[in-house]
Amino acid sequence: MKFGTKAIHAGVSPDPSTGAIMTPIFQTSTYVQKSPGDHLGYEYSRTHNPTRTALQNSLAALENGKHGLCFSSGLGAIDAVIKLFNPGDEIISTSDLYGGTYRLFTKVFERYGIKFHFVSMADPAALESYVNANTKMVWVETPTNPMMNIIDLKAMAAFSKKHGLLLAVDNTFASPYLQNPLDLGADIVMHSVTKYLGGHSDVVMGALVVKDDELHSKLAFLQNACGATPGPQDCFLVLRGIKTLHLRMERHCQNGKTIAAYLRTHPKVDKVYWPGFEDHPNHQVAKDQMRDFGGMISFTLIGNSLQDAKKVMESFHLFALAESLGGVESLCGHPASMTHASIPREEREKVGLVDSLIRLSVGVEDAEDLKNDLAKALSKI
Ligand SMILES: Cc1ncc(COP(=O)(O)O)c(C=O)c1O
Repeated sequence: MKFGTKAIHAGVSPDPSTGAIMTPIFQTSTYVQKSPGDHLGYEYSRTHNPTRTALQNSLAALENGKHGLCFSSGLGAIDAVIKLFNPGDEIISTSDLYGGTYRLFTKVFERYGIKFHFVSMADPAALESYVNANTKMVWVETPTNPMMNIIDLKAMAAFSKKHGLLLAVDNTFASPYLQNPLDLGADIVMHSVTKYLGGHSDVVMGALVVKDDELHSKLAFLQNACGATPGPQDCFLVLRGIKTLHLRMERHCQNGKTIAAYLRTHPKVDKVYWPGFEDHPNHQVAKDQMRDFGGMISFTLIGNSLQDAKKVMESFHLFALAESLGGVESLCGHPASMTHASIPREEREKVGLVDSLIRLSVGVEDAEDLKNDLAKALSKI
């Protein structure tokens, strides 16, 4: 099945008891058993819920995996992955990654004795020096948030296999429409479903997709044992969002291209970070591993003034100043003070995350209106 067909049909089938074409919201915490242990596959909704099962199957299909697991947030999903490991284990992670992931790694799991190495993954050979007998996993985010760096997933998979490490990929920015890391050799794909998969800024959720049965059993155990599972209403909303994922992504990509090109020629804009530019340092890798380049763009202002960045963001009418991304409406954010405030300034600036950096999540509105909104806001500085 091609992607658009999978988005609409995979994992879901009419409800056998009523014929309802849409998977119902099974708003129930428990299920009646005929006799102890004699049930229809459902015992308690933390462990299994039919609405969640449909969504998990749909996500597994979209990522060309075998098993999907949903969590109450993206961070809940990452939390389950790291709980696969023990004190003393080491993980090599992308240096330029979502601030909340960095906070979870450094402020929570380092306290439990897990060691993280935050490294630039531009050159896979440079990672060799971080591997030792305790290394267990490589954690990759690509495109990175907010610098839009592209990490070569095939190269990272080869590196991980060579050293017997798991490879986990945060695929939130790309969505399964643009990139399927399992096809490129990853073992675990993670999503903040809150973003493109949900697509309508009305749900917080996370997911993992894997191919391997044993890895799935371990993660499913953690999902149930730690209990960060989403409710059925949220699962229903995401199932609904997924049905238009391919259509939304096509428009996000078109608008992203138009807006990136516009910003690049604007006299008040300094750098524009978008992997679709031919001179983006990893444009060729992006072309090889992604179907298109997406609607996430970051840019800086000439003069790098925080005041100017604030003025621009306060002046938008369509780009709403808000955390998050991937919804149908355009958003803007200021990573240095919002999503990435938990990363120390010197760490941030090393990767180019300066004070005037503005991140756009380009929505699916008419591109002309978005350009006008940018033009008006930039004219205020
Ligand atoms: C790339 C990335 N990964 C993970 C997360 C965390 O997801 P959630 O907010 O659903 O917990 C986010 C949230 O912004 C993100 O952008």
